[in-house]
Amino acid sequence: MNICFIMYPWENIDPDNDTTLALIKECVKRNHGVAMCIPADLTIRNSVTTANCSVINRMEKTPSSLKSFYNKVKIREEMLPLAGFDVIFFRANPPLDPIMLNFLDSVKDDVFIMNSLEGMREANNKLYTAAFGDAHSNIIPATHVSKSKRYLIKQIKESTADKMILKPLNGFGGSGVILIEKSAMSNINSLLDFYITNSDGSSSYVILQDYIEGADQGDVRILILNGEPVGAMKRVPGSDDHRSNVSAGGSVQKHSLTKEEKALCKQIGPKLVNDGLYFVGIDVIGGKLVEVNVMSPGGITYINKVYKLKTKIEEKVIDFLEMKVLDKLQAFDRRTRLRKAVQDA
Ligand SMILES: Nc1ncnc2c1ncn2[C@@H]1O[C@H](COP(=O)(O)OP(=O)(O)O)[C@@H](O)[C@H]1O
Ligand SMILES: [Mg+2]
Repeated sequence: MNICFIMYPWENIDPDNDTTLALIKECVKRNHGVAMCIPADLTIRNSVTTANCSVINRMEKTPSSLKSFYNKVKIREEMLPLAGFDVIFFRANPPLDPIMLNFLDSVKDDVFIMNSLEGMREANNKLYTAAFGDAHSNIIPATHVSKSKRYLIKQIKESTADKMILKPLNGFGGSGVILIEKSAMSNINSLLDFYITNSDGSSSYVILQDYIEGADQGDVRILILNGEPVGAMKRVPGSDDHRSNVSAGGSVQKHSLTKEEKALCKQIGPKLVNDGLYFVGIDVIGGKLVEVNVMSPGGITYINKVYKLKTKIEEKVIDFLEMKVLDKLQAFDRRTRLRKAVQDA
C-alpha cells in the first residue's frame, strides 16, 4: 500500500524515541510506499489536493535500529495527489488547523484517514473528555472549562480540595499545566489574566480541574488501537516537577493495567471507534481519564523498550491499516463485480 504521513518536520524527529519514525520504519520494512509532508505542504492544484511530499526510497534491507534507519533513509521530493494514497496517517502536533482539515475533506472518501477527520475535529482539545457524559466524575476528574475569571476564582474558593490543576484547553506535552494551591492564592488574578487574555486581544479557554491525589507518583499512558489497549507505561515525574510528560522530564516504567484501567478502556473504547479515533493515547491518573491524545500520540518506542516486546506496537498499528485497506479494496472489487452482473444482464 501507499501511505502518506502528515506530520511534524523530519528534522524535529528524535531518532532514538520517535513514535512516528517507528511507524514509518515498519511501513518501509514491509515494502509499502511511504511519503511524508507537513500540514503546510498541502496545496490545491487545479482542484486536486496535492502535497509537496518527501518520498522515502525503497530500501533493500531496513536497519534494525531506529537511529540508523533515520540516518540511512534517502528521501526525494515529489508533488503527489493525496487521493492516490491508500492511507493518510495524521501525525502532526496540536493545535489542529481547521482549514488544513478542509483540504483533507476533499479526499476522505478516497483514502483511509487515521484518525478520521470528524474524530479529530471533535477531539482535538481537552474538551473531548467531557463527551463521555460522566456527570458524577466517575471516570474523569471534576472539571470546569471557562474564560470567566470570576467564575474560575469562585470555583477555586468553593472547592473543598486544597489543590487544583489549571491548564490551557489546547496545550500538549505538559506545557502550561500548573498546580494551584489554596494556601497561595495571591497570584491567581494575574495567572488567570495570563492564561485567558492573549496579546492580540482575543481570549482563550482554560481548564480548572480537581487535582487527582497520587499524581506525584506518576500517570499512566495507555495506547488504544481500534478500541483495545495495545500497550501501557507509567510515566513518573522528575523530582522537581508535578507533570509526568516525558517532554517535561518524566521517566518511563513498566505498567500492567489495573482492573479500574481495564474497565475504563472498555467503557471508552466503543465511542473512540465510533468517532473514527482508531489510534489514541490516553492519560490516566488514579484510574481517572485526564486526556485523550488523538493527533500524534507517542509512547510506542518507550513501551517497546521497557517491555522488550516481541510483537512491537508499530506492527499491530500497521497490521490494522493493512486490514482497513484490504477491506476497502475487497468492497470495491465486489461492487465492480455486482455492477457488471447487472450491466450484463
Ligand atoms: N487533574 C490532574 N491532577 C493531577 N495531575 C494532573 C492533572 N491534570 C494534569 N496533570 C499532570 O500534568 C500532566 C499533563 O496534563 P495533560 O492534561 O495530560 O496535558 P498535556 O496535553 O500537556 O499532556 C499529566 O500527565 C499529569 O502529570
Ligand atoms: Mg497528556
